[in-house]
Amino acid sequence: MTLIVLNFKTYQESTGKEALRLASICRDVSEEYSIKIIVVPQVADIYAIANSVNISVFAQHVDGAGQGGFTGHITAASLKAAGAVGSIINHSEKRLMLAEIDASLSACRIVGLDTIICTNNIATTRAAAVLKPRYVAIEPPELIGSGIPVSKADPEVVRGAVDIVKKIEPSVSVLCGAGITHGEDLKAALELGSEGVLLASGIIKAKNQRAALDDLVSCI
Ligand code: G3P
Repeated sequence: MTLIVLNFKTYQESTGKEALRLASICRDVSEEYSIKIIVVPQVADIYAIANSVNISVFAQHVDGAGQGGFTGHITAASLKAAGAVGSIINHSEKRLMLAEIDASLSACRIVGLDTIICTNNIATTRAAAVLKPRYVAIEPPELIGSGIPVSKADPEVVRGAVDIVKKIEPSVSVLCGAGITHGEDLKAALELGSEGVLLASGIIKAKNQRAALDDLVSCI
């Protein structure tokens, strides 16, 4: 099933009450078109969304720290308790060292959170697949926020990521992101072999977020 992962990032239009409103729009579109949508709000908004909107919620980041003396860390246990069902790890805007990625992944496994490891090219996608997350999401950083869809600007990086993951770890699903905005961008991403997209500004910064989501799912 095609997956849409909407990263709320830290935009004003997707924070607090706006995050709750946007999550409800995502739930409505998910139900109307029978398409899987995961929302990824800031950690402070996870509990409210997860406990009032019928939609899957991921965190934008998770630390490998366990429970105890780890002030300021985001633990997998706290995300699970808040109602999250997964977390992004290593987003280009929150890059981690390899050992930290492994620790975050292990912490999520212990509590049963799904994981999306973000990568920036085929080499890092190969490395991420070996760690066996649920998903890898390839996102060339230079296209993030550009409105230039990766599925058109650099189809080879998407196709190459899909091929290497299927060779190394067929159990891992490949998403792609950066600049994805319209239905044809999602369609192109699926035709390149990805199982869905990770996106943000094309929806969040749209004048009409509902209309932007309708457009995104219009070609599938
Ligand atoms: O996490 C997805 C994000 O990095 C893509 O950003 O604004 O290009 O959709 P955007």
